[in-house]
Amino acid sequence: MTNWNLGVIGFGNIAQALIGGLLKVQAVDSDKVHVCAAHYDKLCRNAEKFQVHPYQTAEEVIEKSDVVILAVKPYQMEKVVAPIKGLLKDKLVVSVASGWMFDRFETILEANTHHITISPNTPTAVAEGIIIVQDKHSLTDFEFELLIELLKKTALVEVLDAEHMSIAGTLSGATPAYAAMFIEALGDAGVKHGLTRASAYRLASQMLAGTGKLYLEHQDHPGAMKDAVCSPGGITIVGVEALEQNGFRYAVMSAIDACQNKKQQ
Ligand SMILES: NC(=O)c1ccc[n+]([C@@H]2O[C@H](COP(=O)([O-])OP(=O)(O)OC[C@H]3O[C@@H](n4cnc5c(N)ncnc54)[C@H](OP(=O)(O)O)[C@@H]3O)[C@@H](O)[C@H]2O)c1
Repeated sequence: MTNWNLGVIGFGNIAQALIGGLLKVQAVDSDKVHVCAAHYDKLCRNAEKFQVHPYQTAEEVIEKSDVVILAVKPYQMEKVVAPIKGLLKDKLVVSVASGWMFDRFETILEANTHHITISPNTPTAVAEGIIIVQDKHSLTDFEFELLIELLKKTALVEVLDAEHMSIAGTLSGATPAYAAMFIEALGDAGVKHGLTRASAYRLASQMLAGTGKLYLEHQDHPGAMKDAVCSPGGITIVGVEALEQNGFRYAVMSAIDACQNKKQQ
């Protein structure tokens, strides 16, 4: 368990996923987590769920913390950081905001602040996440090692350069929405053919989790994994054809293109 006191500025979806995952695997003590957000009543309700400490201001959170996680929306970052940058100078600052790479933070933080940019996804909440970490940072080697060790308890950690942070963030951060849509669609199909919805969702979810694990453990080519399920003249290959007729793979690639195009606007 880490000795760090963790501060969180902006306790929304992704901060709760990150903290929730760390608490689930007992990598952090809930008594050492200090959080703030824009709306205090809502914050108290969310803090209660995780048994962490809510505060009215970012200043109080920073005072209690060794590591400060910045988890507000990207467009809010500059305004939130401006009044607290002096206090952040003596802390280890971790940002999860999309599009806020190391160089951009250098323009709004005080010189020599120890900071790093990461991008977690929502399955981090159940310690099955992905956390993309930018290779350029101003942490000491020791701080970096401790942070990576902590993050690895909840996620596959991928360290990448600025150029690849965006696509990696999309591939891991946006796709849980598409995976959920796939589960929902399989659920509808199961219901259409007589399964209960609960049973259909359970089967679809475990199939997705298991197929991912199979790849990670065996590292067979995804095409070979598909071929292994398709017997000659069998049932599965007919479904593959139906998916191709409906542009399944093109639809997936187009979705990622759409995300990347939107990021560039
Ligand atoms: N969601 C994802 O899957 C994902 C993945 C990777 C990275 N990210 C990044 O994570 C960041 C947060 O995203 P999210 O999805 O978690 O958003 P969210 O659920 O809307 O959370 C944003 C949080 O910021 C708080 N906040 C707003 N203004 C504030 C202020 N002035 N001071 C302190 N807190 C303030 C909000 O408080 P109230 O709720 O009280 O308004 C809320 O708790 C974004 O920068 C996003 O790019 C998200």
